[in-house]
Amino acid sequence: MGPDVKEQLDNILSQYDGDSADLIPILQEAQGKFSYLPKQVMQGIAKFLRLPESTVYGVSTFYAQFKLTPTGKRMVKVCRGTACHVRGGARILQEIETQLGIKPGETTEDLEYSLEAIACFGSCALAPVVVIDDNVYGRVTTAKVRQLLADTK
Ligand code: FES
Repeated sequence: MGPDVKEQLDNILSQYDGDSADLIPILQEAQGKFSYLPKQVMQGIAKFLRLPESTVYGVSTFYAQFKLTPTGKRMVKVCRGTACHVRGGARILQEIETQLGIKPGETTEDLEYSLEAIACFGSCALAPVVVIDDNVYGRVTTAKVRQLLADTK
């Protein structure tokens, strides 16, 4: 663990007394600080709480709120719901995968973009839908995808 990470983790842990019941609040705080849960951080937490690493890892993977890999600065979400699918959502997703070079659930190496495929955004009238950070884009075409990604660079 780098000295910075260790110091920041120690700062978090100093507010707790080592009670294993604090595992989730500690994980939440660590994720807030590092934006995901690096392996070394989970190991540090396990040691502090005197829990097996597998327990900390198990809890982190059980709750969807915890991320075990870093997320990019920008989050691109593509709808793969039925309405979007029939209006070409799969092509949109494919175009984004090609443009970014990643699959859903992955992050680009430069940590600029993360990609997720979502069941339905509830904006089916706008299908196919893409959401970049908090901005919803409707009736997206492959040409528009290229434009959107270029604009958000
Ligand atoms: S199916 Fe895509 S927004 Fe509902």
